[in-house]
Amino acid sequence: MCGIVAYIGPKDAVPILLEGLQRLEYRGYDSAGIAVGTKNGGIGHRKVKGRVADLAKALPARLKGGLGIGHTRWATHGEPSDENAHPHLDAAERIAVVHNGIIENADELKDTLKGRGVEFRSETDTEVLAHLIAAAVAQGGELEDAVRRALREVVGTYGIAVLDAERPDRIVVARNGSPIVLGIGEKEMFAASDVAALVRYTRQVVHLDDGELATIRADGFRTDTAKEPATLEVEPVHYDRAGFEHFLRKEIHEQPAAVGRALRGRLDERFHTARLGGLNLDAREIRGFRRVKVLGCGSAYYAGQIGAQLIEELARIPADAEPASEFRYRNPVVESDTLYIAVSQSGETYDTLAAVQELRRKGGRVLGIVNGVGSAIARECDGGVYLHAGPEVSVASTKSFTATAVVFALLAQHLGRLHDLSPADGRRITEGLKALPGQIAGILAEEERIAALAAEYVRYPGMLFIGRVRGYPVAREGAQKLKEVSYLHAEAYPASELKHGPLALVGPELPVIAVVPDDELLDKNLTTLGEVRARRGRVLMVGHRRTDAADDVLLVPANEPELDPILLSIPLQLFAYHAAVALGRDVDRPRNLAKSVTVE
Ligand code: F6R
Repeated sequence: MCGIVAYIGPKDAVPILLEGLQRLEYRGYDSAGIAVGTKNGGIGHRKVKGRVADLAKALPARLKGGLGIGHTRWATHGEPSDENAHPHLDAAERIAVVHNGIIENADELKDTLKGRGVEFRSETDTEVLAHLIAAAVAQGGELEDAVRRALREVVGTYGIAVLDAERPDRIVVARNGSPIVLGIGEKEMFAASDVAALVRYTRQVVHLDDGELATIRADGFRTDTAKEPATLEVEPVHYDRAGFEHFLRKEIHEQPAAVGRALRGRLDERFHTARLGGLNLDAREIRGFRRVKVLGCGSAYYAGQIGAQLIEELARIPADAEPASEFRYRNPVVESDTLYIAVSQSGETYDTLAAVQELRRKGGRVLGIVNGVGSAIARECDGGVYLHAGPEVSVASTKSFTATAVVFALLAQHLGRLHDLSPADGRRITEGLKALPGQIAGILAEEERIAALAAEYVRYPGMLFIGRVRGYPVAREGAQKLKEVSYLHAEAYPASELKHGPLALVGPELPVIAVVPDDELLDKNLTTLGEVRARRGRVLMVGHRRTDAADDVLLVPANEPELDPILLSIPLQLFAYHAAVALGRDVDRPRNLAKSVTVE
């Protein structure tokens, strides 16, 4: 959410900043801007409402400089506009700041600054930072000290980059709750809110810790604590569309490979269990847990719901999932015999991070199931499992959802085999997991038919998604995908709840998308479909067999019943994607949304 990039070195900063912003655009895309330190010792800047491409068009050719900062915005304070776009500058245009996060006491600080005669040009919380830092700089001392003093007055979250026209040898960055990563080049340095902006230039990175401030200069960096650079595993190609028209479609098609990576080296075929080295829990500790609580937001929460069901089924430990965003606000009872699991693709989602911090503060044991290597959530947890799904650029999660469910299956198998899951059942799960990549590829091969159905269903104003038990989280994620990218109204309900209310909505104008695995609940589900059709509701069923109870059927291959939700989710991703394409939506950048929700 909001992208920051900074460069200092021998090259012209402008094309590097623009390229970085383009890579970060999935974090926010309502306005963009850059500021560069110019040769005559001033700051040149330009910011516009709109996309990075609009900024590029608006840049004057004379804007050049060897250091600069850039920003792509997702609005929190003040609507998207040229004035509210970052960077923000002080009145003398000596200091320029880009910021990701929320300054909670911005109104109070604004009043104080106004009392001192400061005039504000935007409605943003960020502008107070520019004025506070300028005031601190005016008192003398190093830029780093001035930034530190200014930040002491601030309550809230930030990842910032600061340019001082009078100190063109450095850029100061700081983080508190919003990520900042430094990139080390050959006689040049970078900083960004996300490695996506860095991979084209360097593989050597340093993650800042919360509360830390750093200086980058062309010849190196200084952080508060000594830090060893880490080497990035991702390739620039992961951030390209690779011939696909959208990242979303590319990432849907990457799922066989992503699942393969999530499984690699983790299947223990001797003991019919999973090898998960990063849990940092021994068998005795694991046997001591009486409950499992899974926390995540949005699609991560729905994947967590699949995970909780897997753990309950395979390990017979009571497990449930809850939105991390709710959990953190309700003063939760934290139990020492509960295993908490935080799920996050980015590893940065503020609500999930806050839930983990609250749990750790109260002594809870937290594992992370995270895609972002070295991310804040991964570092905050006691242990965990990385998804290895590869970078996910499209705002709507797909491959990380699937990889999360797969990692949960491994974890559930591992917990199960330490309890009462038999070797035969362990082997059954291993074989099922091994079959997944091929089966997913088979479903993807049906894309044309799914696209045709999606193009037909978009004539309805909305859709109701239903599923029972294993099918319910699949239905929820299906509805989530559809509404995110197509903007059609989509609601998910447990199939068993339909007759307790939502059936009143069903009629020729509201089709029902039903997730119906061929499991012990098949007959009950088919009865529900009959009830829908008796009200002239059209039914699209995703399941394992053809039936007259549905108007349209999307078939997926059966796996082990516990693993079926993973496969049943795939056609619904393609359905949402093609619905959005049929409606001409901006598939990778749906309105009002951003990847990585790093604000509350
Ligand atoms: C849905 C989606 C969001 C995220 C949610 C959590 O397609 O992308 O609902 O799943 O914001 O994000 P992470 O997983 O990064 O914590």
